[in-house]
Amino acid sequence: MGGNEPSPEVQRRRLVVASVLSAILIVGSFAVLIATGAGSGGSEAAVDRSPASAEPTGEPASRPSPTATATPEPVIPPFDKAARSIDDPASIWVVVDKLRPLQPAEYEPADLVPVPVAHTWEPVLRQEAADAVVAMFGAASQEAGLALASNSAYRSFGAQQNIYDGDDELTARPGFSEHQTGLAIDVGAESGVCSLDVCFADTPEGQWLRDNAHRFGFVLRYPADKQAVTGYQFEPWHFRYVGTDLAAEMRKQGITTLEEFFGLPPAPEYAG
Ligand code: DAL
Ligand code: ZN
Repeated sequence: MGGNEPSPEVQRRRLVVASVLSAILIVGSFAVLIATGAGSGGSEAAVDRSPASAEPTGEPASRPSPTATATPEPVIPPFDKAARSIDDPASIWVVVDKLRPLQPAEYEPADLVPVPVAHTWEPVLRQEAADAVVAMFGAASQEAGLALASNSAYRSFGAQQNIYDGDDELTARPGFSEHQTGLAIDVGAESGVCSLDVCFADTPEGQWLRDNAHRFGFVLRYPADKQAVTGYQFEPWHFRYVGTDLAAEMRKQGITTLEEFFGLPPAPEYAG
């Protein structure tokens, strides 16, 4: 013990000062941690600064979703005009006109069936066309309250010979009639009003057929403004079955004759 050793009182005071300084240091350290966000609340602060909450006035719904650009648009292949024959008389796309006789001339369809609809002359058609006629007549009745009837359907080479009257603008020569394909039908009102007459175009039945026949696979084969192409006067009653694909495509493209759709020459007259 020497005279240099601090007194107990001095030692006590030094201890108090050291304790106070330590306490200040600890409290100060906590204050710095809280101020910089490095403490336990820091991660929450980071979450709060996420883009959505940082831009509350944005319109998240209008942004493209991550998958919107990844889904490819459906690819619709172009209509294949060569999918069926236009020469084979057994094809539902066969084109028969004054320059394109049936081959063979006395062709007879293999699948003719009776068509169970109202009629003047008992109709037979190829099965597919017969089914379509039944569906079309049913729709005319259910959708519009109209009663349709068949006036003529399949006609053999011999039957066409019997009805050919020499007027090439009205009747096809035997071997040149669509009726011989088993795919054509002359439709009228069951009442008989304007049957096989141009005035059929102005009847409710004629107008319904003009607007709806394509839904069942039929085209109005001899339009009013196409005699120079088809070779026949306006026949608002004559419908030709070609199937719904072709009928819809012709309608979509606004093309009303088979000759124009398939790029065939107009057939106003017979070749010989
Ligand atoms: N009336 C149509 C053209 C036919 O006889 O086939
Ligand atoms: Zn006809």
